[in-house]
Amino acid sequence: MKITKARRIGFCFGVKRAVMMAEEALRKYGEISSLGSIIHNKQVVEALSAKGLKAVNSARDIDGGTVVISSHGISPKVARELRRKGLKIIDTTCPFVLNAQRIAKRLGEEGYSVVIVGDANHPEVKALVDFAPSGTVVVGSRAEAEALTFRKDARVSILSQTTQSTANFLDVVGVVLGKRPKELRVFNTICNDAEERQRLARDLASKVDLMLVIGGRHSANTKRLCEVCKKVLNSTHLIETEGEVEKAWFKKVRTVGITSGASTPDWLVARVVRATRQPRRTQDSQKNP
Ligand code: F3S
Repeated sequence: MKITKARRIGFCFGVKRAVMMAEEALRKYGEISSLGSIIHNKQVVEALSAKGLKAVNSARDIDGGTVVISSHGISPKVARELRRKGLKIIDTTCPFVLNAQRIAKRLGEEGYSVVIVGDANHPEVKALVDFAPSGTVVVGSRAEAEALTFRKDARVSILSQTTQSTANFLDVVGVVLGKRPKELRVFNTICNDAEERQRLARDLASKVDLMLVIGGRHSANTKRLCEVCKKVLNSTHLIETEGEVEKAWFKKVRTVGITSGASTPDWLVARVVRATRQPRRTQDSQKNP
């Protein structure tokens, strides 16, 4: 069985940077808090919490010390609350996310109505909405975009969650354009890594018999990657760890493609490759390095 890894796999630039900054802060300050999960990968978060990182749900739960802001960013309101509490802030917000936040803020100042293409419950999108003007709407799909209505003189602007699929983004843009607002501005805020990762995964999925997508089930970019692969190859499986690799999947399979979400570490990818070569032994090793 031939196993091919996608050319873009493992941590993206933003996640690598966030994890490095958190590890450095842990070395320097000992115990620190993170607002929400620093990245959407359970195994990495567990490894960091063993070193002293404590995830909390809200700024109210932090009394003092150092707080790490995740790569998904936070809203201006939460940032003000953290500053008011006098906390030491380590801001790992990904530069691609910061760019989308700046655009959303500017569009409000310039009087545009804003449509964000993304998952309304994702922390990145929740924060982005708070940078955008009031009345901003979030749509996840073409169908949701079809329900939007605009005034005839509307000046509309569209931007995207950084990890959206380009195809979905373009679909929504097409629907909004069809509603003929007076002015439409489109900002492609999908990050280069997400776009390239999806393209390379789709290419690989079209050439193999079975595809494995490794990543957290709560990770937006991992879910998106899985959807993209499934569109070209039904035999696509999303797995979080090597323990989920099932021998039965590989009957009559000669070629396997492997890709990963942007918050999946290289060591986890290496374990899945090993487990795929020897599916019977997948339960052997479960401990983090
Ligand atoms: Fe940033 Fe893109 Fe990664 S937005 S965190 S480089 S997936």
